[in-house]
Amino acid sequence: LSKAVILVGGPSRATRFRPLSMDVPQPLFPVGGKPIIWHQINALSKVEGLKEIVLIGFFEDQVFRGFLEKCSDEFPGIQFKYLREFTQLGTAGGIFHFRDFILRGNPKHIFVLYTDICSSFPLAALLRHHEKQGRLGTIMVTKVDRSMASNYGCVVVDSETSLALHYVEKPETYVSDLASTGIFVLDREIFQFMDRIVQHQTMDPEHDQETDLLEGIDRDFSKLRLEQDVLRTMADQKKLSVFVTTDFWRQIKSAASAVPANAAYLQQEARSGSSRLAQAISGGPEIVGSVFIHPTAQVHPEAKIGPNVSIQAQVKIGPGVRIRDAIILDKVVVKENAAIINAIIGWESRIGRWSRVEGSPFSTTYDGHEITHDGVKVNNICILGQDVSVKDEVYIRNSIVLPHKDLNTSQHNEIIM
Ligand code: GTP
Repeated sequence: LSKAVILVGGPSRATRFRPLSMDVPQPLFPVGGKPIIWHQINALSKVEGLKEIVLIGFFEDQVFRGFLEKCSDEFPGIQFKYLREFTQLGTAGGIFHFRDFILRGNPKHIFVLYTDICSSFPLAALLRHHEKQGRLGTIMVTKVDRSMASNYGCVVVDSETSLALHYVEKPETYVSDLASTGIFVLDREIFQFMDRIVQHQTMDPEHDQETDLLEGIDRDFSKLRLEQDVLRTMADQKKLSVFVTTDFWRQIKSAASAVPANAAYLQQEARSGSSRLAQAISGGPEIVGSVFIHPTAQVHPEAKIGPNVSIQAQVKIGPGVRIRDAIILDKVVVKENAAIINAIIGWESRIGRWSRVEGSPFSTTYDGHEITHDGVKVNNICILGQDVSVKDEVYIRNSIVLPHKDLNTSQHNEIIM
């Protein structure tokens, strides 16, 4: 028997997801036609013996209510629960605080998944590996570009025994190109282990503060961090196994990174032959590659859509429209001959005739913050917030537009407030 925890964070953490998180909490933002955390839940639902999924975060209670009701219908074998932290407790603090609830029903293993990631979630393989190694916990890692390793939590592993030798958060000098994916499985005994860490932190804070100071670690005792506090100690005590995935994985930290995540999930669906993807049919719009079109959206037969496009509910797309590598959110209207490329169009926005909303392709090596090449930004997805209006024949390129703006003139490389 196992259980799962998804760490959903809270409203204050989603600032990097602006302007889109102003209207929907990041965990519910749609990629691949489904809310981000639906993909975690869908993968967990396929783990044998997993009967309960707990979301832990510091959003208001009602934020996930409707979504979890829908999940209960879609995944009838699974119980769902949202547990709210009264204050931000850190990535292990909430798990520790709600341990009695998590341990109810005596689960042997607890999966812990972050929200801000996109993956095929090979959880059955992770669990098999974990059981075979027989250590307290297992961290899933993925190989990243060596030059990007300093952006991640990195794990040094003994490849013969799968034993984690060190965990280093965002190392300044190179230690390993195996990055933590935000996917873990832990034995139930982890709570005794966390308890000892908490005791140690609170009983002996001065000693810790001193060594922290020496090591330049800035520690906040009101928080317990899963990776820096718990997993790092597990690695030091030879209690942590490592599982390397070669499947797709990336972070969804910024709003722009929702575009490649959307593409990754749509392509996964295409490989699995999913019937949810749009099919090219005679008399219908031209469909290129992997495309999701919500059943309530209206797409004109003379439009050309794809690859890597999600079109959400009640969107209206006119004739001659071209869209690729984009997410079009609910109730957007796109007028004839407009083009939308490498972009996210916010809810209820209107794109005029012959206008163009275009970003540059997202960097494939790193999702995170801006990357420049010869002073030019290369991962500039164009993002329009909710209820933005682009007038006819206007060209919006590589820009981020906050909600409720009317754009009458063309804009390049701007943040429009
Ligand atoms: P940086 O983003 O690089 O600063 O790392 P971090 O260690 O602060 O955490 P990260 O942003 O990697 O968050 C990992 C996941 O945990 C995300 O899904 C967050 O939403 C979630 N999360 C982070 N902090 C908390 C917390 O205090 N409580 C809860 N419940 N979730 C959290």
